[in-house]
Amino acid sequence: MRAVVYHQHGSTDELVVEDLPEPQLRPGDALIEVGAASLNGFDPMMLAGSTSLETPLPMVPCGDFAGRILAFAEGSDPGPWKEGDRVCPHPFVLGEGMTGETRVGAACERVRIPIPNLIAIPDGVSDVQAASLPIAYGTAYRMMITRGEVRAGETVLVLGATGGVGTGCVQLAKSLGATVIATGSSEAKLDALRDLGADHVIDNKQDDWVRAVHEIAGKPRMLGSGGVDVVINYIGGETWAESLRCLRSDGRMLTCGATIGFNPPTDIRYIWTYEQRIIGSNGWTPDEQRKLLERVAAGDLAPVIDSVVSLEGARSAMDALIDRRVFGKVVIEPALGPRSGSLCK
Ligand SMILES: NC(=O)c1ccc[n+]([C@@H]2O[C@H](COP(=O)([O-])OP(=O)(O)OC[C@H]3O[C@@H](n4cnc5c(N)ncnc54)[C@H](OP(=O)(O)O)[C@@H]3O)[C@@H](O)[C@H]2O)c1
Repeated sequence: MRAVVYHQHGSTDELVVEDLPEPQLRPGDALIEVGAASLNGFDPMMLAGSTSLETPLPMVPCGDFAGRILAFAEGSDPGPWKEGDRVCPHPFVLGEGMTGETRVGAACERVRIPIPNLIAIPDGVSDVQAASLPIAYGTAYRMMITRGEVRAGETVLVLGATGGVGTGCVQLAKSLGATVIATGSSEAKLDALRDLGADHVIDNKQDDWVRAVHEIAGKPRMLGSGGVDVVINYIGGETWAESLRCLRSDGRMLTCGATIGFNPPTDIRYIWTYEQRIIGSNGWTPDEQRKLLERVAAGDLAPVIDSVVSLEGARSAMDALIDRRVFGKVVIEPALGPRSGSLCK
């Protein structure tokens, strides 16, 4: 079967499209024909080999995928499922880890996944939409709703709001009735954030963004006024201590990652003076993924899709992610021919 593959860690020059052997089903597995798979911020990190996780080589990128069931491993109990059912599996597999990280990913024509991981795609949701949801929107859902408990009337600051998790956070915060301050790195991205519903946008490359947040939300004061109620910070690095300067008394700072540095300097004075709360959020549950699929089916949420590309388009898509040229999600459709599918900007 055709697949996007890298045989060693390095730059996007390592990405090739080639024939791989068919997936070998293990007892309890389903075989899925991939209709769509999507890239995430961690794919370039896995390609570069810059995480502490050990990837099997040769490796195929993409943790997220959607498609239809082709077969079940011999002797396995399929439970409620049958061949032809449309599914968007939860990509974390017990004992194997995350698809696209420690197990082979889905930028290919067929994948194996344990039957308990299967999640049905409701009518009206396309493979492209479903494949955009799990990792980015699942993580955003858990951060904003389950862990962050964002409420109507609160002000939420989303840093690096233009990626998969970020656009999901902006959309979910707006649907909860919050005021959203969103940062991004270009005029075009800021326009797109406004179109998505962000109430205030800040250029994180051009502006003193902390001062810009103070102008919008005020400086934190001990008696409660000033500052934002919630900061979403998966950027880390120097943005970590700067974010504390934006957070109101009793405010919540949520994190699910550290794009530019996981052990940044902090400023403990802000945490005690303003009794700030730091809240971690990791992954999402199958139930949270089902709720997202239902929202899309009901027309309450439309995942932001930057581009849909063929397997051959994966290399330029990965370059665009690395160069911060993507707004929302990049989806790969294996059925697209080598020259079809819009290429990334
Ligand atoms: N724990 C979990 O379960 C979990 C799950 C999913 C993701 N994550 C983490 O969440 C983060 C976001 O993931 P994602 O898939 O949404 O990534 P993404 O699509 O690549 O988006 C990341 C965003 O961060 C901003 N950014 C990139 N480099 C930056 C820099 N040097 N300084 C400031 N901003 C920068 C970019 O926005 P601008 O260029 O517009 O600034 C980009 O849109 C990653 O750290 C990822 O590892 C964690």
